[in-house]
Amino acid sequence: MPTRGVFVSEEASLLANLIENNVEINNSCGGNGTCGTCLIQVIEGLHYFSEVEELEAEIKRDRGFEENERLSCQSFIKGKVTIKIP
Ligand code: FES
Repeated sequence: MPTRGVFVSEEASLLANLIENNVEINNSCGGNGTCGTCLIQVIEGLHYFSEVEELEAEIKRDRGFEENERLSCQSFIKGKVTIKIP
Protein backbone atom coordinates (compact mmCIF):
# COMPACT_ATOMS: atom_id res chain seq x y z
CA MET A 1 0.00 0.00 0.00
CA PRO A 2 1.42 3.41 -0.89
CA THR A 3 2.04 5.81 1.98
CA ARG A 4 2.58 9.51 1.97
CA GLY A 5 2.71 12.42 4.32
CA VAL A 6 0.81 15.64 3.91
CA PHE A 7 0.52 18.83 5.91
CA VAL A 8 -3.05 19.72 6.72
CA SER A 9 -4.87 22.85 7.77
CA GLU A 10 -6.76 22.75 11.07
CA GLU A 11 -9.33 25.06 9.50
CA ALA A 12 -10.51 22.56 6.89
CA SER A 13 -11.92 19.07 7.25
CA LEU A 14 -9.62 16.13 6.82
CA LEU A 15 -11.51 15.25 3.64
CA ALA A 16 -10.91 18.71 2.18
CA ASN A 17 -7.24 18.45 3.09
CA LEU A 18 -6.91 15.04 1.47
CA ILE A 19 -8.59 16.24 -1.72
CA GLU A 20 -6.39 19.35 -1.73
CA ASN A 21 -3.37 17.05 -1.59
CA ASN A 22 -4.65 14.85 -4.43
CA VAL A 23 -5.27 11.86 -2.19
CA GLU A 24 -7.92 9.58 -3.68
CA ILE A 25 -10.85 9.15 -1.31
CA ASN A 26 -14.52 8.54 -1.93
CA ASN A 27 -16.92 11.29 -0.97
CA SER A 28 -20.23 10.51 -2.60
CA CYS A 29 -22.23 13.14 -0.71
CA GLY A 30 -19.63 15.83 -1.26
CA GLY A 31 -18.66 16.09 2.38
CA ASN A 32 -22.14 16.52 3.83
CA GLY A 33 -21.77 13.70 6.32
CA THR A 34 -24.54 11.51 4.95
CA CYS A 35 -22.99 8.81 2.73
CA GLY A 36 -20.26 7.31 4.89
CA THR A 37 -17.94 6.74 1.92
CA CYS A 38 -15.20 9.03 3.21
CA LEU A 39 -14.51 6.63 6.07
CA ILE A 40 -10.91 6.46 7.25
CA GLN A 41 -9.24 4.34 9.91
CA VAL A 42 -7.11 6.11 12.47
CA ILE A 43 -3.90 4.20 13.10
CA GLU A 44 -2.28 6.78 15.41
CA GLY A 45 -3.34 10.08 16.91
CA LEU A 46 -7.06 9.60 17.51
CA HIS A 47 -6.80 12.13 20.34
CA TYR A 48 -5.89 14.83 17.78
CA PHE A 49 -9.23 14.43 16.03
CA SER A 50 -12.21 16.68 16.67
CA GLU A 51 -15.04 15.31 18.76
CA VAL A 52 -17.63 13.13 17.06
CA GLU A 53 -20.70 15.30 16.47
CA GLU A 54 -24.27 13.95 16.34
CA LEU A 55 -24.46 13.55 12.55
CA GLU A 56 -21.32 11.41 12.46
CA ALA A 57 -22.28 9.56 15.64
CA GLU A 58 -25.54 8.50 14.01
CA ILE A 59 -23.80 7.07 10.94
CA LYS A 60 -21.17 5.36 13.08
CA ARG A 61 -23.89 3.78 15.21
CA ASP A 62 -26.09 2.75 12.26
CA ARG A 63 -23.23 1.17 10.32
CA GLY A 64 -21.33 -0.31 13.22
CA PHE A 65 -18.13 1.62 12.65
CA GLU A 66 -15.31 1.03 15.11
CA GLU A 67 -14.19 3.78 17.50
CA ASN A 68 -11.07 4.41 15.41
CA GLU A 69 -13.07 4.81 12.22
CA ARG A 70 -14.04 8.37 11.35
CA LEU A 71 -15.74 10.24 8.58
CA SER A 72 -13.00 12.39 7.14
CA CYS A 73 -15.52 15.05 6.07
CA GLN A 74 -16.60 15.48 9.69
CA SER A 75 -13.09 15.39 11.17
CA PHE A 76 -10.69 18.20 11.89
CA ILE A 77 -7.25 17.37 13.22
CA LYS A 78 -4.84 19.26 15.42
CA GLY A 79 -1.69 17.18 15.40
CA LYS A 80 0.27 14.43 13.75
CA VAL A 81 -1.89 11.47 12.85
CA THR A 82 -1.58 8.33 10.80
CA ILE A 83 -4.62 7.16 8.92
CA LYS A 84 -5.53 4.41 6.52
CA ILE A 85 -8.04 4.78 3.71
CA PRO A 86 -9.74 1.38 3.44
S1 FES B 1 -18.30 12.53 2.12
FE1 FES B 1 -20.21 11.62 2.57
S2 FES B 1 -20.08 11.22 4.70
FE2 FES B 1 -18.22 12.19 4.23
